Amino acid sequence: MRAKKTAKAKPVARAANHAFVSEVPDRIRRLINSSLEIDEVLNLSMHLMEKTVGATASSILIYDAETNQLKFYLATGDKKDILKVIRMPADQGVAGRSFQTKRTLLIPEAAKSPFFYNKVDEKSKFVTKNLIATPIEVKGKCIGVLEVLNKARGTFTSDDARSLKAISREISIAIENARLYDEVKRAYMDSMLNMAKAEKYRDGDTGLHIERCGAYAFALGPALGFSPKDLESLKLSMMMHDIGKVAIPDAVLLKPAKLDPAEWEIMQRHTSLGGEILGRGPHMKLALEIATCHHEKWNGSGYPQKIAGNQIPLSARLAAIIDVFDALSSRRPYKDPFPPEQVVSMLQEGSGSHFDPELVQLFISRIAEMREIYNTTTA
Ligand code: C2E
Ligand code: SIN
Ligand code: SIN
Ligand code: FE
Repeated sequence: MRAKKTAKAKPVARAANHAFVSEVPDRIRRLINSSLEIDEVLNLSMHLMEKTVGATASSILIYDAETNQLKFYLATGDKKDILKVIRMPADQGVAGRSFQTKRTLLIPEAAKSPFFYNKVDEKSKFVTKNLIATPIEVKGKCIGVLEVLNKARGTFTSDDARSLKAISREISIAIENARLYDEVKRAYMDSMLNMAKAEKYRDGDTGLHIERCGAYAFALGPALGFSPKDLESLKLSMMMHDIGKVAIPDAVLLKPAKLDPAEWEIMQRHTSLGGEILGRGPHMKLALEIATCHHEKWNGSGYPQKIAGNQIPLSARLAAIIDVFDALSSRRPYKDPFPPEQVVSMLQEGSGSHFDPELVQLFISRIAEMREIYNTTTA
């Protein structure tokens, strides 16, 4: 029994610090690579950091130049929801001073510190006993402050302050990487979108089909549980669904008549080809699944993989309805538009065979809005 207890004893703080500091960059890098969002990376960093210095709470304040305030960007502990709406003048408090001077400040007794800004505690009902604040610098510019508060036992030491400083550097790198990564992702999305648009010009369409497909998806997404953040991605992905058509020759794409079996074979490849083009990019999961699966059918008779029902990703099941609604409503080199009433009955006929029945129901329940999008996004 006794031996067990000894074995369980905590490692000394210093050893833990070293392990932590060397572990952070690697973990953060892995997290970013596995496509987690920056907030999750920061949250994890904060929890590891609290453990390292034995703090009971921590927060990241980010500078807002417009108001010259420091805003609680992230916080842990039971007051974190209140803190989210609290801000403090960027030239006051321990945090403000750390921000202005770019120095790490160790405050063993907050109540006795001339710098301590107690309005945050007043509003949050958190009682700050001791804290360390350290600047977060990205490319030599201070963008905010990292704080740990209330050491569980005793008060913070200069060792803790050193650890925090090291962690802040890692967090800065993570923020900078995430920003760069975001830029790359955005640039990639932009170029793909341009390619999708250029493709549409080729078959005489003015790119409006693409705009509309994005707009229908944007309108319907919330009803399918897409968060505001994913909605933008859903919209862009929907706009790129036919990107694989860049690889389809004019003779097939622009043929003003029915395709023969060999041509049809070629045409069907636009799905897998689209997936191949988009799948190379970062964060392109939705775009990839929509491009690959938008011609799959609910009963398994579609292409290219002949998957059925819920095997087809939700985004692609939605894309199928949106795409056909818009195609039926429009003129194509090979067909005239159908009248609005007939478009609806064709969608209904496809319910359960071509389309996910629940999604058809949703789409038709919002038909007035869908027609409005069609009519206001037409040349
Ligand atoms: P698209 O023109 O964007 O059409 C998308 C989907 O809308 C079609 O997928 C189909 O499900 C539906 N759709 C379009 N027009 C009609 C129609 O007149 N009747 C019915 N019931 N559904 C229609 P699908 O069939 O897998 O075709 C994929 C793409 O292949 C089409 O995209 C188009 O680019 C091309 N395509 C299909 N049929 C022909 C054709 O007869 N001639 C030519 N030149 N291209 C065709
Ligand atoms: C908390 O109560 O969550 C911590 C307070 C703070 O981060 O300032
Ligand atoms: C301060 O920086 O003086 C207070 C900040 C806080 O309570 O989180
Ligand atoms: Fe298609």
